[in-house]
Amino acid sequence: MIPLSIVVARARNGVIGRNGDLPWRLRSDLKRFKQITMGKPCIMGRKTWDSLPLRPLPGRLNLVLTRDSSFEAAGAVACESFFEAVEIAAEQAEEEGAEEICVIGGAALFELALPRAKRLYITEVDAEPEGEVLFPAFDESAWIEAASEQHEAGEADDHGFAFRLLERR
Ligand SMILES: NC(=O)c1ccc[n+]([C@@H]2O[C@H](COP(=O)([O-])OP(=O)(O)OC[C@H]3O[C@@H](n4cnc5c(N)ncnc54)[C@H](OP(=O)(O)O)[C@@H]3O)[C@@H](O)[C@H]2O)c1
Repeated sequence: MIPLSIVVARARNGVIGRNGDLPWRLRSDLKRFKQITMGKPCIMGRKTWDSLPLRPLPGRLNLVLTRDSSFEAAGAVACESFFEAVEIAAEQAEEEGAEEICVIGGAALFELALPRAKRLYITEVDAEPEGEVLFPAFDESAWIEAASEQHEAGEADDHGFAFRLLERR
């Protein structure tokens, strides 16, 4: 089985989104996101798809979960269930030798993926922004921290942050 991984940036108060967008500008995190996800199938919710500045994410299979059977978007593969999305992603990952499937948000998708994910790439953003979209609460004791790197805000970053990698025990 190809493992599922979650890729998320979350603020100290759990916020991950505001008004259909990210509540910060963090160029360093966008670079990391690209490095982690490149060449791997990416599963996302329809609202996250809508929020992407550049659609589809190039060099990655873009799988978009929606209940709207008429949804069509160039470069996106629409899926009506998480199970279907994972199945298609796994086929593609096997064909292309990708080591994992990335679930890239938002909250609805993280909720679906958390019980099954083996890896959690989490950027802890040093901020407490307002926002109505939160990363679901989860039991961190079920995970081991495999890496953690603290970073000061770079020139194009609104805040400092830590890159963490958690692996399921
Ligand atoms: N900080 C981060 O790492 C990060 C990452 C990603 C997104 N975000 C932010 O999070 C926000 C978007 O997240 P969100 O939680 O509001 O929305 P979302 O998870 O991206 O998308 C929700 C949509 O996905 C579809 N969906 C969800 N569950 C489904 C299921 N079981 N079966 C079929 N379709 C399903 C539905 O689409 P339809 O309505 O079309 O049926 C639903 O409205 C934005 O603000 C974005 O910028 C942040």
